[in-house]
Amino acid sequence: GSLLSTAKNATFSSYNFLTLSFLMASLLLKNGRVVTADSDSVCDILIEGETIVSIGRKLAADGAEVIDCTGKIIVPGGIDPHVHLDMPFMGTFSSDTHETGTRAALHGGTTTVIDFVLQKQGHSLREALTEWQGRATGTAVGDYSFHMAVTDFNPGTKEEIKDMVAEGITSFKTFMAYKGALMIDDAQMVGLMQEVKKHGALVTAHATNGDMIDTLIAQHRAQGKLTPLYHYLSQPEVTESEASGRFADIANYTGVNAYIVHLTCEGALNQVRRATERNQRVFVETCIQYLLLDASLYEDEANGAKYVMSPPLREKKDQETLWAGINQGLVQVVGTDHCPFMLAQKLVGKDDFSKIPNGHPAIEHRMELLFSEGVSKGRISLQKFVAVTSTNPARIFGMFPRKGTISIGADADLVVFDPEKKHTISAATHHMNVDYSAYEGWELTGKIDTVLLRGQVAVDGGQTKVGRGYGKFIRRGVTAF
Ligand code: URP
Ligand code: ZN
Ligand code: ZN
Ligand code: ZN
Repeated sequence: GSLLSTAKNATFSSYNFLTLSFLMASLLLKNGRVVTADSDSVCDILIEGETIVSIGRKLAADGAEVIDCTGKIIVPGGIDPHVHLDMPFMGTFSSDTHETGTRAALHGGTTTVIDFVLQKQGHSLREALTEWQGRATGTAVGDYSFHMAVTDFNPGTKEEIKDMVAEGITSFKTFMAYKGALMIDDAQMVGLMQEVKKHGALVTAHATNGDMIDTLIAQHRAQGKLTPLYHYLSQPEVTESEASGRFADIANYTGVNAYIVHLTCEGALNQVRRATERNQRVFVETCIQYLLLDASLYEDEANGAKYVMSPPLREKKDQETLWAGINQGLVQVVGTDHCPFMLAQKLVGKDDFSKIPNGHPAIEHRMELLFSEGVSKGRISLQKFVAVTSTNPARIFGMFPRKGTISIGADADLVVFDPEKKHTISAATHHMNVDYSAYEGWELTGKIDTVLLRGQVAVDGGQTKVGRGYGKFIRRGVTAF
């Protein structure tokens, strides 16, 4: 409802209430099954302006617009902490902008994303941040924040860490692969960790052994082994488990908060298990594709490029490890690593897998895929679903409790799920700016009806209700997990 219609329907009992009603539209979600990471009850949620102001049974509010949520599940807006929007990479740009990517995210119940700013080697963090702000400010539809990828740690960079933390950029991404473009060595890693530790912030890693991968790629190319299958064979499990263990070891030495992004396999998770045996905590993110897709897709030469991402898809046994890891609390986050490229962009590598831009589109379907394949199929509980899609990323990345839960005072970022409704994923109907879906034809159980972002209906019945520029930059604090 607009401010006007809310005001018209209201029964004004006092001047104060009148003033309040004009300033803030109120919205009442009735009789939903409200699920957080640690609660589950049928109740009402009252929203004023951008914020949840009351949660309880039989709430009434004069003049509020009412949404009947009977039979629906209400969860906190999703947080996808791993997306690459409009990112220069491997000679091209990922195909979703901050506008199209955050809009697609909203359609899938993800109200906040954390995007990666990439420092250019030889240049400052500030320059990179300014460039990314230029693309996201005034264009994002959903809320967003930034990680800072440190690709060149030097005395200048060191001085900039505290400035980034002061601006609410409290996570520093490292690449242990992509040598010559993004990779840092162990000397830079230890220096960065020591500096980040001083400010209570977090270091994250793409933990794969870049030198080993580059050697295997060169060997395969020299042997004329150029199909997408060799992308997979150039990044065997050991390249990830070795780097994951090394990252955990250096983090343990420095005492910094550490987080492994897009962990895919048993060997790497076992390195995290080993770290827990010395009482170290290493946060782990996996991504939806590693739970649901496997390496057999690379055997299809014609379509394999769609699944070229790093690390590559793994085996069924790894999927089982990751589901178990979620239930064991070793894997705290399910993100996407959304990094879409059009088929024409992927085709650049049709004769050489090493030229295929790495990445896969999933920002829109993470929540519905995990709900259907995880919750509906009994692999994880609803509480776990909320924890890994929203609450844990909010806590780890310093946005809790403003984001990541349903509580009084929190941003009214809410997802209304119809748990029984079936739907089919297709590139023909998705909102991402990419001309294929990695999940084409998948029939899912559970569909998102309505999404609220900061008290506004952002998506309803498949229609976008908020426009370009509605998304706000979210300044983050440090980890509180
Ligand atoms: O293949 C991927 N993952 N592309 C995006 C960059 C990265 O490594 O996360
Ligand atoms: Zn410069
Ligand atoms: Zn990566
Ligand atoms: Zn990534």
